[in-house]
Amino acid sequence: MFSSSLTLKSLALLAVVSSAVDVAYATSLVVSDLEARRDVVAPKIITPNGNTVWPVGSEQLVTWDILDLPPDEQITNPIGKVILGYDENSSLNLDFFNPIVQGFLLRDGNVTLTVPNVVPKTNYLIVLYGNSVNTSPNFAITAS
Ligand SMILES: *[C@@H]1O[C@H](CO)[C@@H](O)[C@H](O)[C@H]1NC(C)=O
Ligand SMILES: *[C@@H]1O[C@H](CO)[C@@H](O)[C@H](O)[C@H]1NC(C)=O
Repeated sequence: MFSSSLTLKSLALLAVVSSAVDVAYATSLVVSDLEARRDVVAPKIITPNGNTVWPVGSEQLVTWDILDLPPDEQITNPIGKVILGYDENSSLNLDFFNPIVQGFLLRDGNVTLTVPNVVPKTNYLIVLYGNSVNTSPNFAITAS
């Protein structure tokens, strides 16, 4: 299930490209990276944070800071995707194949999701994708 493994240092950019899990998305990352640094937006994740506890099956709100977002026409990929991972052995262990939620607008600043039925751990994290990557602090998912 958590098949992809990245080091924290290399983070997701190279790994996403090389894993070829999502070719269209990886292509947009490469193009945006080569053509226009200004297009890279990296909204800071506000929730979940280090105090967050998500029960399996519950509805939760992910929020991020949209104050720094440039105009839409300068954002190569304004459509967001939330990927669940867990921080173990210096890897993010991202579950690329099963985004928890996707297809929302980064401009919205939040998205509601249903916590998937995963093994409880205290070292979960989420990664918010648009045309860039942002990682939350570690937080807990508990049994429902
Ligand atoms: C982390 O390392 C331990 C010890 O080598 C191993 O048992 C475990 O499966 C590793 N975890 C992941 C997610 O690779
Ligand atoms: C979530 O986003 C919508 C659309 O931008 C906004 O109207 C709403 O106030 C936001 N809710 C929260 C709790 O941030």
